[in-house]
Amino acid sequence: MWLTWRAAMERALYGERGFYLHERPSGHFRTSVGASPVFAEALSRELVAVDHALGRPPAVDLVDIGAGEGMLATGIMAAVPPELRARLRVTAVDLAPRPARLPEEVVWAETPPEEIHGLVVANEWLDNVPVDIAEQTPQGPRLVQVDPATGEERLGESPDEADLAWLARWWPMRAAGGRAEIGRPRDEAWASVIVRLARGQAIAIDYAHLSGERPPYGTLAGYRDGAAVAPVPDGSCDITAHVALDACAAAGERAGAVATTLTTQRAALRALGVTGERPPAELARTDPSGYLRALARASEEAELIAPDGLGGFGWLAQSRLQEMPTSL
Ligand SMILES: C[S@@+](CC[C@H](N)C(=O)[O-])C[C@H]1O[C@@H](n2cnc3c(N)ncnc32)[C@H](O)[C@@H]1O
Repeated sequence: MWLTWRAAMERALYGERGFYLHERPSGHFRTSVGASPVFAEALSRELVAVDHALGRPPAVDLVDIGAGEGMLATGIMAAVPPELRARLRVTAVDLAPRPARLPEEVVWAETPPEEIHGLVVANEWLDNVPVDIAEQTPQGPRLVQVDPATGEERLGESPDEADLAWLARWWPMRAAGGRAEIGRPRDEAWASVIVRLARGQAIAIDYAHLSGERPPYGTLAGYRDGAAVAPVPDGSCDITAHVALDACAAAGERAGAVATTLTTQRAALRALGVTGERPPAELARTDPSGYLRALARASEEAELIAPDGLGGFGWLAQSRLQEMPTSL
């Protein structure tokens, strides 16, 4: 059987025997959420700022998209002041079944709420939204087809008009043999979030690349049990490709975003107070156990902002308020 990569990814990740419907993501890869509670704490400060910008309304949404095991939502809930927590409406959005230990007050849904007033966070969601892959030939781009059982590939038809337009605008391929992941489904997924954002801010955090710096052969990858494996779309591994986050930003603007910040996780977390600075050596003498705790925290912070690791992730923050005096 031959499928386009988008169809093969859809089936391998979210089909009847799809990877995400029967696996716990944290068993297979480490995201910023699992790396340290510092990540959720930093985002809780952004939620406080959004709440402030909205004038502290009686109900504030926190929406975690691609929630996985729901750890980001629960981490943010635990870190906000009790007064704000009492006003939070928390929705965790995922196609997987509801995790067993999620607090009852968290709504678990397959789609985001229709109207969101507050903060949306999508950490490593868009890279798992299935995409087609095109390869450049002397006759122009052709869609790559894959055999889901083996991962073997062959060239199929030309992409449709919309995909060709996307490639020409966002990922023009220079030489025959070059490959591009057609990010249009991610743009649409992100735009569908922005249209639901009545007031507030939405943040997508992901492996990303920008126009002019696209990898010439793409970024398609597979992960299983914490290790990189060949991306065979047979349901046995995660299949992912980095996100053209600038294209998502443009789609968000077309969907009504009025303010856009496109930056790195390092810059965003530093703006939210995550510095990775070690505690003063003096503390080791006056409070040895406090010193050790601060040292452990500093090393977690350093991992989250390391430029060649998690700190290199892209952060796309868009809002529906012209004046959004938040940290980003
Ligand atoms: C890499 S995991 C990220 C989990 C979590 N956000 C974290 O950072 O640890 C991606 C998650 O996105 C979910 N997902 C993918 N496409 C989705 C969609 N269209 N709607 C809702 N969830 C989706 C997957 O089921 C998976 O749980």
